Amino acid sequence: MTMATTTSPASPTAMPKRIFNFSAGPATLPESVLLQAREDILSIFGSGIGIMEHSHRGKEFIRVIEEAEADCRTLANISDDYAVLFLQGGATTQFATIPMNFLPSGKTADYLNTGVWTTKAIKEAKNLGSVNVAFEGKDCDFDHVPTQEELSLTDGAAYLHYCSNNTIFGTQYKTLPSSDAPLIADMSSDIFSRPLDINAHAMIYAGAQKNLGPAGTALIIIRKDFMETGAAGLPSMFDYRQHAAKGSSLNTPPTFGIYVIGQVFKWLLNQGGIDTLNTRNIEKSALLYDAIDTSNGFYSCVSKPECRSLMNVSFKSPNADLDAKFVQEALDNDMSGLKGHRSAGGLRASIYNAFPRQGCEVLAQFMRDFTKANG
Ligand SMILES: Cc1ncc(COP(=O)(O)O)c(C=O)c1O
Repeated sequence: MTMATTTSPASPTAMPKRIFNFSAGPATLPESVLLQAREDILSIFGSGIGIMEHSHRGKEFIRVIEEAEADCRTLANISDDYAVLFLQGGATTQFATIPMNFLPSGKTADYLNTGVWTTKAIKEAKNLGSVNVAFEGKDCDFDHVPTQEELSLTDGAAYLHYCSNNTIFGTQYKTLPSSDAPLIADMSSDIFSRPLDINAHAMIYAGAQKNLGPAGTALIIIRKDFMETGAAGLPSMFDYRQHAAKGSSLNTPPTFGIYVIGQVFKWLLNQGGIDTLNTRNIEKSALLYDAIDTSNGFYSCVSKPECRSLMNVSFKSPNADLDAKFVQEALDNDMSGLKGHRSAGGLRASIYNAFPRQGCEVLAQFMRDFTKANG
């Protein structure tokens, strides 16, 4: 082993074969980020020490986390009124941490139930306080997200929680739900894939493993004055104020996850930012929705047309046997991860920011060929 190299080593091996990965998460990451990570795992910034081996108190990691926060702020135009945190425990930990902080006794929180993940968030909140399900999507098999008229909001609610993109059913809000209460969004599966109104929200959170980086880390964007209203006396790991006061390093943070998220932010900025990604995502998803809509009913969408997701195209063929055949034949053609979630069945193509347009073109053609052969 060579000690104390001062520059990053050159890539030791050629690029291995990669296939189109339509997985809902963990999901495709930008190849340039993976290649950079391959080098930085061995030595970052010419330090002779890999990113996973550096102390979280050392100057190298501090540079990584400071750049990640600054790039995130630039990307989404996040003002100093908001704290940007990188925390452990994924999105699911926020399902409980939010009511622990912001749902005091005597108050009710409004939740919009639009799928499996909001169902889980509601369950956690109900363990901790009073919850009003202001929209119940179970009644329509989660085929849409609600219009404003469908909401039964609580006067003086502690907050309104919604999920901007429902990863499993493939539905996505096109306009924000509106309430006098502070707005909290789970944006795990569409963050930074389209323009977002940070200032309309008290808090936005996202598990990293779809649009941001490796699983396990969550990005939290929280308005500071709202954060200050959190309950007193919470265990420190469940207190957003304490995380913010320590720059997300209250304990040893998920250093590698934060590093990759930071690289993804740089990639997003280099691509031209959120608007560019949004245009690409509209075009990519249109390729697949077009293949569905021109199949003469062979394929059907789970979502109503007006709220189709740009990130998760959830659809079905005429029956479960054909769905299984589709998944296997797609895999034989180097397309992985197309099986629908176990709770929804059918098929699903997840095409987050880093998923290449070419993969959508190949899948759309495959869908047409499959219809011809089996329709
Ligand atoms: C919308 C949404 N929220 C929350 C989660 C849960 O995230 P995590 O596994 O990071 O807790 C997921 C899936 O991973 C999701 O798609």
